[in-house]
Amino acid sequence: MTDSQPVEATTASGETFDHRARLQQMFRDSPIPADELMFNLGLYVRSSLLVKFLVMDDLYRRFVSVPGALLEFGTWRGQNLVLLENLRAIHEPFNKQRTIIGFDTFTGYPEDAGMAETALTEHGGYNSGSDYPRYLAELLETHEGNSAFGHLRGNHKLIAGDVTQTAPKYFADHPETLVAFAFFDMGPYEPTVAALRAIQPHLVPGSVLLFDELTWTGAPGEAIAFKEVFRDIPYRIEKCPLYPSKSIVTVR
Ligand SMILES: C[S@@+](CC[C@H](N)C(=O)[O-])C[C@H]1O[C@@H](n2cnc3c(N)ncnc32)[C@H](O)[C@@H]1O
Repeated sequence: MTDSQPVEATTASGETFDHRARLQQMFRDSPIPADELMFNLGLYVRSSLLVKFLVMDDLYRRFVSVPGALLEFGTWRGQNLVLLENLRAIHEPFNKQRTIIGFDTFTGYPEDAGMAETALTEHGGYNSGSDYPRYLAELLETHEGNSAFGHLRGNHKLIAGDVTQTAPKYFADHPETLVAFAFFDMGPYEPTVAALRAIQPHLVPGSVLLFDELTWTGAPGEAIAFKEVFRDIPYRIEKCPLYPSKSIVTVR
C-alpha cells in the first residue's frame, strides 16, 4: 500500500486521496509540541470522523435517562468506548454506575467469518494484536481518571473472544444487566444474531441500538439477524440523520 491509497472503506478517489495523504503527512510532521497537540487534535480531524462524534453525542442524549450499560459489539481500537466515557463525563459526570463494555476478538475477524477478501485485508483484517486489550483498558482507565470522581476507576470492561461465545456467557454470568445502548458493528449474521439474542432479555423501553449496515444489501447478515430477533419486540426504527448508512432502533 502506498501513502496515497486509502486506509478505510471509502467512496473517495483520485484527488481526495492526495489530500487525505497530505493531511496524514502533515499530522506526522506536525510542528506542534505534544502537550499542545493533545489540545489541538481537531486540526487534523476530518468530517468523516467528526460525524461519528456527532452521531454518538446525539445518541447519548437519547439514552441518557435510560439506566444500564453501554455496549459495543466490534470494538476494534476502542475509539467509541473512549468517546462514550468522555460523553458520560459531559452528560452525566456523577453517574459512575454507567458501565461501558466492548466485545471483540481483538485479533480481527475469525477465519470462518465468510468475509469478502477486501474486508479482511482492510485495516489488516482489524487485528489489533493480542496485547491491545491491556493497552485499551489502561487508556480507558486513564480517561476515567481525568473525569469527575477520577479516583473511582476500572468501571469499564473489555470482553475478548468470539462474540458467538463471549456474549451468551457474559449475559448468563451477569443476569442483572440492563442495556441502555448497544452498537452493532461486526457485519456477519452469526456474531450479530448471537449478540442480539444475548442482550434481548436485558433490553428496556428506551434502549437504543445502533446498526452499522442494516441497509447494506451487499452484506445482508446484520439485517437478517435483526429481523429475526426483533420479530416480537416493539420498536421504532429510523435512518441516522447525519450518517444515512447507519440505522437507529429504539425499543418501545
Ligand atoms: C468494523 S470493525 C469495528 C469498528 C469499530 N466499531 C469502530 O467504529 O471503530 C469490526 C470489528 O468486529 C470484530 N469482529 C468481527 N467478528 C467478530 C466476532 N465473531 N467476535 C468478536 N469480534 C468480531 C473485528 O475484530 C473488528 O474489530
